[in-house]
Amino acid sequence: MYALITGASKGIGKEIAIELAKKKHDLILIARSASQLEEVAKEIKRNHGVKVDFLATDLSFPDAAREVFKWVEQNNYKVSVLVNNAGYGSAGDFEKFTIEQNRDMMNLNMITLTEMCQMFLPMLKRHSQAYILNIASSTAYQALPQMAIYAATKIFVLNFSRALKFELKDSPVSVTCVSPGATDTNFNVRADIPAKARKAAEKVVMSPQAVAKISVDAMFAGKTEVIPGFINKLGAFLAWIAPKAITEKVAAGIYE
Ligand SMILES: NC(=O)c1ccc[n+]([C@@H]2O[C@H](COP(=O)([O-])OP(=O)(O)OC[C@H]3O[C@@H](n4cnc5c(N)ncnc54)[C@H](OP(=O)(O)O)[C@@H]3O)[C@@H](O)[C@H]2O)c1
Repeated sequence: MYALITGASKGIGKEIAIELAKKKHDLILIARSASQLEEVAKEIKRNHGVKVDFLATDLSFPDAAREVFKWVEQNNYKVSVLVNNAGYGSAGDFEKFTIEQNRDMMNLNMITLTEMCQMFLPMLKRHSQAYILNIASSTAYQALPQMAIYAATKIFVLNFSRALKFELKDSPVSVTCVSPGATDTNFNVRADIPAKARKAAEKVVMSPQAVAKISVDAMFAGKTEVIPGFINKLGAFLAWIAPKAITEKVAAGIYE
């Protein structure tokens, strides 16, 4: 039985793969970089003795989920755990980015994630128990000037996951959505997060190992919605009770 993890070449996805390998799941790792995937696959096989295969592909391309599913079927892999983790953000004014740049992010963070769920659901339902773990973000809990699209894609992930969990309540498939806060990964480099925002996050940043362990435990416990870390939970609560104009001003102040 395989666990398929997107964005498994580094960061949170790599650590989720390791957590699942510790629990003796065979693994399918997906990301763009073949060389990094090969390294991670070797490391996990050596340390945990599970089977690991990988597919290097760009999940922001249209029909990426269909291509992944085809490859899985051709290899006759039976997937019982689907982890949709690959995603990224880009900091800056909405107008700074081209239509194509914005579309890439929306494709990866939302469209491929949704289509992965859709493509793999029939296979997941054939198991007596199966799991979907979708990675959103603490930015799902408020509008975020300077990361407008990213935060909007993540509230999509959160609400889609919750609704899907409800629809599947009488099925063998459990859906969990985890919303990490600042985590020490390459995310910040790719997003080009300004120094001021990185500094603000320094005191609360979590390790990808800690986030991965909380995520995998929550998934197997059948939890619906999880925010790792007390400060991140508090942040989401404050964003919920505070007037939106204030939370948006505070967030914008950190990023400007
Ligand atoms: N780090 C944070 O502060 C933070 C906070 C909240 C939520 N998150 C979420 O956590 C998830 C994991 O992020 P991370 O922090 O671990 O970032 P990361 O270290 O940058 O890892 C991202 C992973 O996704 C893969 N990926 C990126 N673009 C891809 C594409 N187009 N097609 C296929 N794979 C792609 C990357 O591999 P390649 O580059 O080789 O493709 C890598 O394996 C994301 O959904 C992110 O939004 C992160």
